[in-house]
Amino acid sequence: MTRLFTLRAARPGDRDAILECLRPWNMHHVPSPEMARIELDRFFVAELAGRVVGAAGYTFLAPGHGKTTLLGVLPQHNALGIGGALQEARVEAMAAQGATKITTNADRPQVIAWYKKHWGYREVGKLPKLHSFGDDAVPEWTTLEMDVAQWRARRAE
Ligand SMILES: CC(C)(COP(=O)(O)OP(=O)(O)OC[C@H]1O[C@@H](n2cnc3c(N)ncnc32)[C@H](O)[C@@H]1OP(=O)(O)O)[C@@H](O)C(=O)NCCC(=O)NCCS
Repeated sequence: MTRLFTLRAARPGDRDAILECLRPWNMHHVPSPEMARIELDRFFVAELAGRVVGAAGYTFLAPGHGKTTLLGVLPQHNALGIGGALQEARVEAMAAQGATKITTNADRPQVIAWYKKHWGYREVGKLPKLHSFGDDAVPEWTTLEMDVAQWRARRAE
């Protein structure tokens, strides 16, 4: 299927547009104890008709151990494959830099199910939220972990 959107690495001028993609999801509180910074050199954005409509970032907790940071797609552009493409781009980027496992914290049940279904994440723990961030109806993060080699094997099937 032809994609209507394009993906690219974030640039220094993208910070505000990235935060606007996160605002509808209450994930724009940066800097905060929950999210200290946006590392623009570890961010991808999705553009539709020249506008940034989605963004996703990552970091490293240790050599070989990647961590997703933020991911958000403007609600009016959900379910077009943008979130999936952004997630794939950051997983590939982490894998290219040596990640063998990737940790993700998520709160919305629909999103947790999405991570498990498409990337083979499994639940490894819970973390109380430090303050309002994400869905305020959910007081904790579910910590998820994926194995990069297993994901590649599953994708190649
Ligand atoms: C999770 C998210 C990035 C998915 O983006 P997207 O562009 O809609 O995703 P895609 O089109 O690639 O995939 C759609 C899938 O997302 C799921 N989904 C999760 N939340 C959704 C939402 N609010 N609206 C539509 N679909 C949603 C759908 O069930 C669908 O699942 P399926 O592929 O198994 O059918 C997006 O819903 C979002 O920004 N959510 C809120 C922020 C958030 O929780 N981010 C993750 C932080 S860890």
